[in-house]
Amino acid sequence: MPYAEEIARHSADVTIVGHHYQQDAVIRHCSVTGDSLELARRVAAINSPHIVFCGVFFMAESAALLARPGQQVHLPAADANCVMAQMAPAALVRTVLSRLAATGRRIVPLAYVNTPLAVKAVVGEFGGAVCTSANAAIMLRWALNAGDGVLFLPDANLGRNTARSLGLTEQDWHVLDIRRNGLPGGGPVPDRPLLLWPGCCAIHAKIRPEHLTAMRAAHPDCRIAVHPECSPACVQAADAAGSTSFLINYVRQAAPGSVVGIGTEANLVHRLRRQYAGHCTVLPVREVICHDMAKTTEERLLACLRSIKAGQARPVIVPERQKAPAKASLERMLDVCARTGA
Ligand code: 13P
Ligand code: SF4
Repeated sequence: MPYAEEIARHSADVTIVGHHYQQDAVIRHCSVTGDSLELARRVAAINSPHIVFCGVFFMAESAALLARPGQQVHLPAADANCVMAQMAPAALVRTVLSRLAATGRRIVPLAYVNTPLAVKAVVGEFGGAVCTSANAAIMLRWALNAGDGVLFLPDANLGRNTARSLGLTEQDWHVLDIRRNGLPGGGPVPDRPLLLWPGCCAIHAKIRPEHLTAMRAAHPDCRIAVHPECSPACVQAADAAGSTSFLINYVRQAAPGSVVGIGTEANLVHRLRRQYAGHCTVLPVREVICHDMAKTTEERLLACLRSIKAGQARPVIVPERQKAPAKASLERMLDVCARTGA
């Protein structure tokens, strides 16, 4: 345990925050943990001048946006990105939204929180909002009621799974082919209520329906819950789907002695397996690792804390021109959730 003791002695000026996919060695140092929605809410209530965010870049950016004046947000692994968040570049999102606006339909953009801040800013400018996996259904319903149609980005799987949970069918959505009908001069965009950006999480895409079939064959009485970034085929084959906090609760509430298959990132699944070992058997539907989440190590966390102490840290900077529109899209989410009691 070369780093743990020094990390544990960190200054009271620092609050360490971590997403559920962080490895045990890191999460044990976090006084605030949660799914993306919980972290966004709880970060807004932190008073300490420094927030150290153990997670990926888009999460730290959102935290920096919601931070109080003078408060600094630090990402111990500055190279921790999110494969999915990179699938919808801001300039392309703006081009597509401008083209959709030119058709005369009022298309409301709804961005999954797994997007760069620049995208959240474009979404805010076009009157849209952010959502997380925990409130996607509430936010999609809001967006469908707010205009003539919705552009959901970048996760087409979360979009389809959420739409289905609201009673929409395949006839109600269209996955944009960015080259053919997303850009000026391209083909027409069908007049459907839901347009989906063709992105996905490469990690959750590795979990396939045959893995659920194999698990049910090996454990006929098992229950299976997956993250809604998995394909619709997986979500339909599972007993339940929801955010990382939902999956944690699913295991907590499992029948004693039962077998529970969890389809999401391996760090969380194995933590649940160890935590609930005396209560139920938790198994990964498939072993999948988010290498970006894994970039935060105890060593890098300690280096970050030392740099803060030495006054040499480089906090996450939110470009001034993105602040107001990106904040508008995030706050719209927090407002809608507060109004609906979600
Ligand atoms: P949650 O909001 O469910 O924690 O998910 C974040 C994420 O990146 C899942 O891959
Ligand atoms: Fe991004 Fe997927 Fe990693 Fe989540 S698991 S942070 S969506 S790459």
